[in-house]
Amino acid sequence: MLKTKIGEVKKQVLEEIENVKNSDALFELEKKYLGRKSEFVGFLKNLKNLEPIKRKRIGELANKTKIEILSIINAKKADLSKIITNKEEIIDVTIPGKKRSLGHLNPISIVRRDIEDIFIGMGFKIADGPEIETEFYNFDALNMPADHPAREMQDTFWLKNKKGRESLAMRSQTSAVQAKYMEKHEPPLRIIVPGKCFRREATDTTHDHTFYQFEALVVGKDINVGHLKQVAEDFFSQFFQKDIKVRLRPSYFPFTEPSFEFDITCTVCGGAGCCACKYNKWLELGGAGMVNQNVFEAVGYKRNAYTGFAWGFGLERLAMMKYKIDDCRLFHGGDLRFVRQF
Ligand code: FA5
Repeated sequence: MLKTKIGEVKKQVLEEIENVKNSDALFELEKKYLGRKSEFVGFLKNLKNLEPIKRKRIGELANKTKIEILSIINAKKADLSKIITNKEEIIDVTIPGKKRSLGHLNPISIVRRDIEDIFIGMGFKIADGPEIETEFYNFDALNMPADHPAREMQDTFWLKNKKGRESLAMRSQTSAVQAKYMEKHEPPLRIIVPGKCFRREATDTTHDHTFYQFEALVVGKDINVGHLKQVAEDFFSQFFQKDIKVRLRPSYFPFTEPSFEFDITCTVCGGAGCCACKYNKWLELGGAGMVNQNVFEAVGYKRNAYTGFAWGFGLERLAMMKYKIDDCRLFHGGDLRFVRQF
């Protein structure tokens, strides 16, 4: 009778284990048949009440069965762990690692950082200003009142204005930072201001509605055009890693007097004439000049107490020369085939 009962337990385990599909179910099955409160373990505990001869015989059989049930359960455990490993946990340390593609900088950012490094080396500070600017800082403080014809060359995007509030615009030039910075700092000062600008332009290969400029502003006692030229030549020679000459042509900006168009020798032919410079020998980069005393007055400096030079160059233009890119719209076009080349 007892013998049959013990055999029944093993039979039940063998039947039920067939349907066990995961480790939770196996745990339950083990608890059911070999747990402290299971019928089988209770039965083993009560063996002591049997007569000695029967106890020995039945005890041996019961212990043997217990060991068999345990090995059946352990074999199932091994099977289940293989299934799990096959499905989701293969760790083959010999497989080469997955290469993660790293992001990288847009050429504009590379050039911007190069410029900043060079100017920091020359003792300049890097200044910054908002891309949405008041009409005052973008125009009026720069000697460009509302009716000034020079404003037309820098038509930009205006923000809807609340009644009684100062007009806001997307800044059309980094020169907007000039007055702001000078209001808070006394000369001597030397800064560059790299940053984004916006203009309402019909775009072409050298003009976009969004572009970068970098401004330089040096103010102190007895600063003259010679300083402007020398600092510029030093910078461009370091930037292009070759000897670069600078040419200033008379021009007009309301915030500088005198004002210049600023050219450098062609970075491809060195000024001999080639198709890159259209045989002009020179490449135009931006505007420059000696800071107009009206601007100094607008920021609270005493008239004629200081002199200073400023320039504003297109950063795209520098990047185009450095990397031989023929359309500035590519920088902000979001075409990955383009940006991945750098
Ligand atoms: C100015 O913006 C003046 N603020 C420069 C200046 C600063 C003069 C300090 C004197 C003293 P201009 O509009 O010429 O000047 O622009 C300067 C340079 O910015 C241009 O030569 C060109 O390289 C770049 N630039 C201007 N408009 C665009 C545009 N739409 N797209 C790309 N680059 C542009």
